[in-house]
Amino acid sequence: MLRRLHKDQPASFEFTPANLAWAKGQISKYPEGRQASAVIPLLWRAQEQHGWLTRPAIEYVADMLGMAYIRALEVATFYFMFQLQPVGSVAHIQICGTTSCMICGAEELIAVCQELVAKAPHQLSVDGKFSWEEVECLGACTNAPMAQIGKDYYEDLTADKLRALIGRFSNGEVPVAGPQNGRYAAEPLSGLTTLQEFESGKKQYNASAQLAVDIGDSVKRIDGTEVPLTTPWLGVTVKEPAKAAKKTAAPKLAALADVPAAEPAAAAKAPAKAKPAPKAATPATPAEPASGLAAALDHAAKAGTKPVALAAARDGKGDDLKKIEGIGPALEKLCHELGIFHFDQIAQWGDAEVTWMDGNLKGFKGRVTRDKWVAQAKLILEVGVEEFLRRAKSNDY
Ligand code: FES
Repeated sequence: MLRRLHKDQPASFEFTPANLAWAKGQISKYPEGRQASAVIPLLWRAQEQHGWLTRPAIEYVADMLGMAYIRALEVATFYFMFQLQPVGSVAHIQICGTTSCMICGAEELIAVCQELVAKAPHQLSVDGKFSWEEVECLGACTNAPMAQIGKDYYEDLTADKLRALIGRFSNGEVPVAGPQNGRYAAEPLSGLTTLQEFESGKKQYNASAQLAVDIGDSVKRIDGTEVPLTTPWLGVTVKEPAKAAKKTAAPKLAALADVPAAEPAAAAKAPAKAKPAPKAATPATPAEPASGLAAALDHAAKAGTKPVALAAARDGKGDDLKKIEGIGPALEKLCHELGIFHFDQIAQWGDAEVTWMDGNLKGFKGRVTRDKWVAQAKLILEVGVEEFLRRAKSNDY
């Protein structure tokens, strides 16, 4: 297939402040003169931020790495994972069409895409929300047929299930990734026959699906604030990704976190000067985020009304908040720190409390609204956990 740049290109591209800090962290992995080694992760992050890889983005990355534009373009056009044309604003759907999936019904999935999205691959749907393509084996053959939607795998699909998924994405929902037929992971359909001791103590979803739920970035355009920026090779972990290290910190850390405004050309010079930080670098104290982002985060944190908190769980035993779809161990721990231990506490929240919680969930801002915690908690109180889970599994709530 001939892969060319799209005829319509935006005027410019620049990383968000947090993505720029992340990119500098990647570049700092490589020795002086070898910064071009970071080209694939930087192009990928540019695509994750914008949705597809534009010419300005390719040139911006090339500038950052001191590469000739043609060399960055060669990389972008060689790898099919780089989308060189606009993709759906909600999701790009990649249907595996290789042997296992084909035998198990991939062609029916493609027919659904042709019916609901667009006749031909790489075309936008009429509303611009979706695009699709057929891809080679994605390595989930046991759970065939499957599709990658955004970043996550949706497995054990049927035409009807894919149809329902597209409908839910279109409504602004983010269905839980992983097997869609009740299977936990890739075990036999009839259940485990060996290693059964691992049946107990497992999380609500398999590791990949659980991570997708916990991070919540399945179809999100990545702005760098989703997970903490970690740069252990520099001897530092920046806890809040949007926060920059103080300029008084070790020089390399300051360079990493020093976020220029909108000058790709200036940014291009920074990585060339970056050198590994001294091994014993003292962890930097996170400073305030870059101005616009700082104001937004600060405003979000202050808005709304703090829900009534408990000093501890009633009778020493809280509810298992992880039963609420979208709450994983990390979010449950955060809830406990905020004095939330029971479903009935969440069920009582009004708009003001939801706003406050959404703004104060550290790396998980906005989750209460996105995952409809209040509605879920109310339903659990109404029908009980077991029935709730049954309905959740069939997306019936
Ligand atoms: S054949 Fe489809 S994931 Fe391998």
